[in-house]
Amino acid sequence: MVTNFPSGFTWGAATASYQIEGGWRDDGKGESIWDRFSHTPGKVLGGDNGDVACDHYHRWRDDIEIMKDLGLKAYRFSVAWPRVRPNGTGKMNRAGLDFYSRLVDGLLAAGIQPYVTLYHWDLPQALQDRGGWPARDTAMAFAEYAEAVARTLGDRVKDWITLNEPWVSAFVGHYMGEHAPGHRDPNEAVHASHHLLLSHGLATPLIRRDSPGCRVGITLNLSPQWPASPSEADNQAAQQADGSLNRWFLDSICGRNYPEDMVDLYRHQGVVWDFIQPGDLDIIAAPLDFLGVNYYTRGIARSTEVPEAKNERRMVFPNPNPTAMGWEVYPEGLYEILTRLHKDYGFAALYITESGAAYPDHMGADGKVRDPLRISYLREHFISAARAVADGVPLRGYFVWSLLDNFEWAYGYARRFGIVYVDFATQVRTPKESALWYRRVIGDNAVTD
Ligand code: FCB
Repeated sequence: MVTNFPSGFTWGAATASYQIEGGWRDDGKGESIWDRFSHTPGKVLGGDNGDVACDHYHRWRDDIEIMKDLGLKAYRFSVAWPRVRPNGTGKMNRAGLDFYSRLVDGLLAAGIQPYVTLYHWDLPQALQDRGGWPARDTAMAFAEYAEAVARTLGDRVKDWITLNEPWVSAFVGHYMGEHAPGHRDPNEAVHASHHLLLSHGLATPLIRRDSPGCRVGITLNLSPQWPASPSEADNQAAQQADGSLNRWFLDSICGRNYPEDMVDLYRHQGVVWDFIQPGDLDIIAAPLDFLGVNYYTRGIARSTEVPEAKNERRMVFPNPNPTAMGWEVYPEGLYEILTRLHKDYGFAALYITESGAAYPDHMGADGKVRDPLRISYLREHFISAARAVADGVPLRGYFVWSLLDNFEWAYGYARRFGIVYVDFATQVRTPKESALWYRRVIGDNAVTD
């Protein structure tokens, strides 16, 4: 069977600054909250950190060659805020900006379109010391930083993503404590989510002004939330998970305010409701050119309020072949979320800005890295995306996560998401079979096997 994609479909791969760059103190870069967090014992598996990572800061030319060889049409990367503005505000670091400027030039010369994310979680530690995202001033600082980057790169970069996954920054960073800054405070998490959204809304018109003819979007991690049983309690849990992860962000950026059920819930949980100022929700609803969707798996919601034994019989979700993250492979969820976005929100354009899977890859004795499970994951998800396109969803592109094996946050180097294998001892890169398969998909603009 052949699954075709619309002509001009944007096939890409994605990375993020802290996960690949290394060079954590090079050329005047400031400390980020991920530098601080990963240097704190016990925070990251194996004590790993991003000090060197894939050394992309020094090897970016080779990495562009790899992208070119794979035939990528686009590359999504993020700018490390502390590399270009070490203290978060104030003086810019010319050397840091020059790095991204050279990277953009290199990509364009290779015929690869840059998609630039302005915030993929590496907040300058100096701003964390002044309150971080739970503090309103951080939103203003982001807008200034975004403006400065757009002024420098905006003549050449035409696709901008303000934030990556604000839910993760807010909740995994401030409520679950598993990401930097590692706090566990629901109040901080909700306040952070508002200031992240505000920062997005403030930055959007500034980027537009300084990057003529550009397109601006935001990337959200979205996934359908299924109740574990037909019980009232589990349905409510699914509704809440959907509200926290999906609707809180979608409704607000679409100008529908925050969903009332979530406002009630957060207030009921004791969140202090003093953080929304008049006009904020209008700012957050700044018009967008596209929405970026990161999709990995679905959520299955189980109420914790009703004891398991007393609940109705729960459906069985077998999850026979989880990825190395333990995540279920559920390609239908991508179709579900894309069609829902189209029906309920009607964005002008959608991109999958991340989708992919971690598996325990090994280099064979013949120097090849065989990753049939990743190929199968990508194939199924591409086909699911194509079904959504056939049903009228304006999906314009697909960025595989990730170009390179890299620093997978709290899991360090113990999870490999790349289509290109990285030997972290030697920094040698080897395209996995999935990369070679992806090259064919891109060349054919179709999934043919
Ligand atoms: C997403 C992140 C990305 C990567 C993948 C696996 O939540 O945006 O940086 O870690 O998960």
